[in-house]
Amino acid sequence: MLMQRVKPLARILAEGSEQEGGLRRSLGPWALTAMGIGAIIGTGIFVLTGVASATRAGPSLTLSFVVAGIVSALAALCYAEVSSKIPISGSAYTYTYATMGEVLAWIVGWALVLEYALGASTVSVGWSGYFTFILHTLRIWDVPQAWQHSHWDATPGIANLPAAAIIFIITALLVKGTRESGTVNAIIVTIKVAIVLFFIAVGLGHINPLNYHLPPGGNAGAGGFFPFGLAGMFGGAAFIFFAYIGFDAVSTTAEEAQNPGRDLPFGIITSLVICTVLYIIVVAILNGMVPFYTLNVNFPVAFAVDSVGLAWAGVIISFGAIAGLTTVLLVMMYGQTRIFYAMSRDGLIPPVFVRLHPTWRTPWISQILFGILIAAAGALFPIGILGSLTNMGTLSAFVLVSLAVPWLRKMHPEMQGRFTVPFGPYVIPVLSAIAALFLIFFLKQGNPLVWGFFPLVWLGFLIWLVAGLIFYFSYGRNKSTVALQDLERLAVRQPPVN
Ligand code: ALA
Repeated sequence: MLMQRVKPLARILAEGSEQEGGLRRSLGPWALTAMGIGAIIGTGIFVLTGVASATRAGPSLTLSFVVAGIVSALAALCYAEVSSKIPISGSAYTYTYATMGEVLAWIVGWALVLEYALGASTVSVGWSGYFTFILHTLRIWDVPQAWQHSHWDATPGIANLPAAAIIFIITALLVKGTRESGTVNAIIVTIKVAIVLFFIAVGLGHINPLNYHLPPGGNAGAGGFFPFGLAGMFGGAAFIFFAYIGFDAVSTTAEEAQNPGRDLPFGIITSLVICTVLYIIVVAILNGMVPFYTLNVNFPVAFAVDSVGLAWAGVIISFGAIAGLTTVLLVMMYGQTRIFYAMSRDGLIPPVFVRLHPTWRTPWISQILFGILIAAAGALFPIGILGSLTNMGTLSAFVLVSLAVPWLRKMHPEMQGRFTVPFGPYVIPVLSAIAALFLIFFLKQGNPLVWGFFPLVWLGFLIWLVAGLIFYFSYGRNKSTVALQDLERLAVRQPPVN
C-alpha cells in the first residue's frame, strides 16, 4: 500500500506546462547561482552560528560547516538529477509523487511544512534579533526584554513581537502578489555578499588566537578546539545545516533555465561552494574574535564586532542582515503556499488552499492562515527548537529525494535527464540518504530531552508525522484526484450493466 498511487509523470508534466503557461527561459548559469546564494545566505550564518558555537560545537563549528556542506552537496546532486528529469516548477513533493507514490509524497509535503513554514519562523526570530539590536544601538528604542524573547529563551520573555510583526508585513506583501523581481534579488544578493565580505575584512584584524583554545572549565566546557567533543562538532553540523537550506530553490526554476541540464547543476553546486567557503571564513573569524560561549545571542555577527568596540560596523552588518533575511522570508513563505497549492490541487488537503483572490490572483486565504501560524511559532518558541525542527523536516525530505534517483532510473529508464549523478545510480544517492540520516541523528545534540532521554526535536517530528498521517488517512486518501481518476478509468472499463 505504501507505494501505491504513483502520479503519472505525463500528467505531472502536462499540469506543469498548463500552469506555468510556458515560462521564458531567461536564466543562465550565473543568474541561477545568484538565485541560489540569495536563498541560502540568511539566518543560518547570521544567527544560528552564535547558538551553535555557544551550545554545541565551540570553535570546531568551522568543521561543522564543512560536514554540513558535504551533506548538502550530496543532496544537491540528487536534486539536480531529479529536477532535470521532471523539469517543472515543483518540489520534493512532486518528485516523490511521481516515483514512490502518494503516501510518501504526502509525508514529504507534510515535512516540507517544517522546512518552509517553521523555517520562516526561525528566520523571523533572527530578523528580530538584528532589528532590536539596531534600535538599541542607535538609541531609538529599547524593546522590552519581555517582548523580544519567548518564554523558553536563554533570557526568558513573553513573546517575540518584532518576529511576529515582520511575518505579518511579509504576509500582506505576498497576499497582494509581491514577488521578488530578478533585479531586486540581484541587489539583495550583492548586499548580502558585501556584508559578509565586510565582516571578514573588519573581523580579520580582531582575532585573538587564544579564543580557539580556551582553558577548560566554566562556560568553556572541556576547552580547546572541541569543547563539546566530536559529538558536539557533529551536533553543530546538524544544527547549522539550516544555513544551507535553499539550494533546492534553484531546482524549482527548471522551466526558466536556458539550458537546465547543464545550468541547474552548475547553479546548485556553484552557489553551495561559494556559500560554504564564505561560511567557513565567517565562523572561523567569529570564534576568534570573542570566546565562543558569549555568542548565545540572536545577532552574533553584530555582537562580535560590537564587542571589539566597533558598534558602527555592527549597525551596518545588521542593516545588511535584515535586508537579506527579509528576502529569505519572502522565498520561504511563498514556497509554503505553493506546496500546499499543489497538494490541494491533488485533493490531498482541502480546496481552500487553491482558492485565489479575485483581483490579486494569489492564494490569499492560505497565505493568511500560514502567516498567523508562522508568526505565532516565531513569537512563542526559541530559535533552537524552531531551527532544529526545520532541519528535521528538510533532511527527511532529502532522504526521499535521494532515493528517488535510483527509483526513477529503474522505473522510467526512458526518461533521459540532462544531468545524471556520477558513479552510477546508487553510490551518491545512498551516501546522500545516509548522510541526511546521520545529521538527523546528531540533531539530538544540545537539544532538550523529554523523559530524560528522548530528544524533544525527534518527539516534535514524530508528533507532526503522526498527525499528518491521521489527516491523510481520514481525508486525502479518499479525496485524492489520482485515486478518483483511477476509479473513473475502472468504471469506464466495466461492461455496462443491463
Ligand atoms: N539557508 C537559509 C538561512 O540560513 C534558510 O536563512
